[in-house]
Amino acid sequence: MGAPGRFDGYGAVVTGAARGIGEATARRLGSEGARVLVVDIDEGLAHEVAATIPEAAAYGCDVGDPAAVGAAVAYAAETFGRLDVLVNNAFARTPDAARFEDETDEVWQRSLDVTLVGALRCARAALPHLAASGRGAIVNIGSVNAEQAFGGHAYSAAKAGLTSLTRTLAAEAAPRGVRVNQVNPGTIRTRAWEGRERELEALADRVYPLGRVGEPEDIAAAVAFLASPDASWVTGTTLRVDGGLMAVNTGFARALADD
Ligand SMILES: NC(=O)c1ccc[n+]([C@@H]2O[C@H](COP(=O)([O-])OP(=O)(O)OC[C@H]3O[C@@H](n4cnc5c(N)ncnc54)[C@H](O)[C@@H]3O)[C@@H](O)[C@H]2O)c1
Repeated sequence: MGAPGRFDGYGAVVTGAARGIGEATARRLGSEGARVLVVDIDEGLAHEVAATIPEAAAYGCDVGDPAAVGAAVAYAAETFGRLDVLVNNAFARTPDAARFEDETDEVWQRSLDVTLVGALRCARAALPHLAASGRGAIVNIGSVNAEQAFGGHAYSAAKAGLTSLTRTLAAEAAPRGVRVNQVNPGTIRTRAWEGRERELEALADRVYPLGRVGEPEDIAAAVAFLASPDASWVTGTTLRVDGGLMAVNTGFARALADD
């Protein structure tokens, strides 16, 4: 028998878990003993991923659809007999218009509906189960875009809204024994950056103080910490996992050095 895991006996839901950060998080929680529901809009891929994680299950769900979210959370609670952890990771990939004047209501509505309200929907459905667990935790995946302009008008607004939801929900859920925290990743090597190897190298070289971009596993490790009993006195906080990006103004330092 192996060493006991931090999540032995836990039930967990991870949204957007068929790829990237969500997939790495599902694998990490699973490797530490959790039974994980891999929730994704891409049902086929969700099943493929779940099949490679011991005791995991899969559920096809668009977090933009309230009924589907309710069904996914109910399925997790029924399958695992409990629900202890929710990771809100799914998001809408929405393009900026070429000119700000051409930003559309439709793009903003889809971005806010999936990235922000989607997290609210999942939390709302999961909260009674998380409260019943006695060790419930929600981890929202934000972004450094919530804190500084890196492009992505609607996306950044949705992520900033998520930071607010993390705080207000933490206040609401604390008396019920549920913790709510957020991780704000910097640049992480996922499909968003596929085919952009030169840009990633430039960022690693010139922008990231730690000299590399992030990997999905860097975020999964932080999520696992915040979801675990190791963080039992941590709630309402946002943890940047960004290789030092936001702490150091590399452009400023470079301008002085080049002068
Ligand atoms: N990759 C980065 O550089 C980066 C940086 C900061 C924050 N993030 C955040 O990390 C999270 C994951 O990003 P990623 O790069 O791993 O993305 P990804 O595209 O690799 O994976 C996202 C997954 O979410 C699923 N998904 C999309 N819409 C959905 C919906 N409506 N309902 C359910 N599932 C849906 C997709 O099918 C996909 O499997 C996002 O919240 C993103 O904003 C990523």
